[in-house]
Amino acid sequence: MQVIDTIAAFRKALDGERAAGRTVGLVPTMGYLHDGHASLMRRAQAECDVVAATIFVNPLQFAANEDLSSYPRDLDGDTALAAAAGVTYILAPSVKEMYPSEVLTSIRVSTLTETLDGASRPGHFDGVATVVAKLFNIAGPCRAYFGEKDYQQLAVVRRMASDLSAPVEIIGCPTVREPDGLAMSSRNAYLTADERAAAPRLYQALQTGRRLIEDEGESDPAVVRNAMTGVVTTEPLFTLDYAEVVDAGDLTVPPVLAGELRLLIAAKIGRARLIDNIGATR
Ligand code: PAJ
Repeated sequence: MQVIDTIAAFRKALDGERAAGRTVGLVPTMGYLHDGHASLMRRAQAECDVVAATIFVNPLQFAANEDLSSYPRDLDGDTALAAAAGVTYILAPSVKEMYPSEVLTSIRVSTLTETLDGASRPGHFDGVATVVAKLFNIAGPCRAYFGEKDYQQLAVVRRMASDLSAPVEIIGCPTVREPDGLAMSSRNAYLTADERAAAPRLYQALQTGRRLIEDEGESDPAVVRNAMTGVVTTEPLFTLDYAEVVDAGDLTVPPVLAGELRLLIAAKIGRARLIDNIGATR
């Protein structure tokens, strides 16, 4: 495995692979890798001839009051995990390599970014769409693997790639969870023992919402939202940001729940802001 820190060398490596007739799988990450990231790498390895990952804590997607400076990092651990998951190339660039001068270009995917995490984190998805578009330009034609764990991000990236005719096929992959249901996240490292013990409640709230829809036939989004809210707010360590049920395709709240739906939740607990989501059908 090669760890590369320049855009030019990474681009050259992937161009060489394609010139030799091999397909490229790309897994963009911010590092501090866990089994959720590894699942994307393994899926890429199963479906592509060669796998490249990127590790870059992207300043553009963090607001001033967020955790950019404390975001966990471990390049040695990450390289070992990525190698075991079948990655051949890692791009781990500096901020200066990615953004040598002030970034004057920003990509905004409208509508999809105006609700849920987009409403709570203004500018966040512009930063994500901009860096992912840049990574697609750097990597070139490939399949790119993203987790459903960040469901709104996946929708935003899909739409950006389609709107901009990126030569990239976007593949969404299921969320990997701890045995107690907590979705794996680099930010779980922020949790104290008490917070960690309380954290699976987010997933329990989502399951409560799904049961209401699928087993009891509930069709009113407000009823589902209130039920999920109740499960989270009875745990005093949590401060709920949002609990919502939306159309799985366009992320709008339907007046009557029907078809493919997505339940999404975000809450603060201690230093961490956790997000999770699951699907439901009615
Ligand atoms: P990061 O949070 O490191 O996540 C990298 C990829 O791993 C994303 O596609 C995310 O959805 C996926 N992922 C994280 N936890 C997962 C889990 N438990 N199960 C399955 N997949 C999981 O998302 C980002 O980085 C950044 O916003 C990025 C897209 C790299 C742009 O900077």
